[in-house]
Amino acid sequence: MSSQENSESLPEAQATAHGAVETAGDPFADPGLPAHKPRIQDIDERAAKRSERVVAFLFFLSMVATIGFIASYVIFPVDKIVFIFPFGHVSILNFALGLTLGVALFCIGAGAVHWARTLMSDVEMPAERHEIAAPPEVKAQVLADFRQGAAESGFGRRKLIRNTMFGALAMVPLSGVMLLRDLGTLPEDKLRHTMWSKGKALINMNTNEPLRPEDLLVGSLTFAKPEGLEEDAEDFQTQIAKAALMLVRIKPEDIKDKRELEWSHQGIVAYSKICTHVGCPISLYEQQTHHVLCPCHQSTFDLSDGARVIFGPAGHALPQLRIGVNDEGYLEALGDFEEPVGPAFWERG
Ligand code: FES
Repeated sequence: MSSQENSESLPEAQATAHGAVETAGDPFADPGLPAHKPRIQDIDERAAKRSERVVAFLFFLSMVATIGFIASYVIFPVDKIVFIFPFGHVSILNFALGLTLGVALFCIGAGAVHWARTLMSDVEMPAERHEIAAPPEVKAQVLADFRQGAAESGFGRRKLIRNTMFGALAMVPLSGVMLLRDLGTLPEDKLRHTMWSKGKALINMNTNEPLRPEDLLVGSLTFAKPEGLEEDAEDFQTQIAKAALMLVRIKPEDIKDKRELEWSHQGIVAYSKICTHVGCPISLYEQQTHHVLCPCHQSTFDLSDGARVIFGPAGHALPQLRIGVNDEGYLEALGDFEEPVGPAFWERG
C-alpha cells in the first residue's frame, strides 16, 4: 500500500478504533487504543476463583508473617548472633523482625496487585483533558464510575478477599505496637527518690572511703555518693545521676538559711550536684562568696543561703540532704532528699 493510500484510509480507521478521538484530516491524529482482549478470568469463572484464592492466600500469608514478627520479638534474645548465608553473622532478632515484616508488607502489596490485574475490570477508558474544576455532570459521572469500579472489583461480592485483606491490614500495625515495649517500663515514683536513706554513709567519690567531718575543711568542695553504690554496678549511672552529692564546709555563722543550718553538721552542708536547669553536674565553687556555678549555662547558687538561684536560667534552689554523724564518727544521711532532684521536675507535678 502506498503512503498516499495510507493517509486516505487513516480517518476511517480512527473512527473505528477503540477510544479514538475524532480528528478527520489530521495526519497526527490519536490512533486510539487496541481492541480490548478479555483475560482468562473474564471468561472462565474457575480461573477467576483460582485468582481469588491466590489473592486470599497472599493476604493470609501476610497475617501469618505478622504473627511471626510478634513471636520473633518475644522469642529471640536481643544479643543472639547467628550465621545466615549470604548475610554472614547477623542478629537473629533483627533478621527475623525484618524478614517477617517484609513478608507481611510484600504479601499485602502482591495480593492487591494480583487482585487488580486478574479480577478487577481491565477495560481501558480514554479520558479527554478538561478544566480542573469538574462540572456537576462530571462529578456525577466520577461517582458513578467509582460505584461501578467498586462493583466490578467484586469488593462486596468476593467476601473471602475482602475479609482477609481487612485482616492483613488490621494486623500489620500490631508490629508497631509491639515495638512500643522498647520504651521500657513506667518510671512510677523512681524519679522522686534516690538511694539516700537514713543511716547511709557518705562515701568520698575520689577515695571511695567513708567521710568524717574532719576530712572537710572550710572552703573545700567534696563530692560524695551513697554507701553501697559501686561503680561497676549495672545501674550505677542511673543511681549516681540522682544521688550525686556536693559537700562544702561553711562557718556556721556564715549560713543565712535557718533550715540549711539545721540540716548541716558543724557547717558541713550537702546539696544535690545536679543542676536544676537541665541537669549538668555542678563543679565550680567560689569559697569567698559560697557560690557554686554550673558550667553549662552559668546558673549560680548561693550555698550559704539555701542554695537559692542568684543568677542564670535554673528555676529552683538545689535540693539539700539532711546529714549527721553516726556512732563511728562518719557522716551519714538522715533521710532522702525532700524534693525530687534534677531539672524542671517539680513543674511536672
Ligand atoms: S544546666 Fe546548669 S545552668 Fe543549664
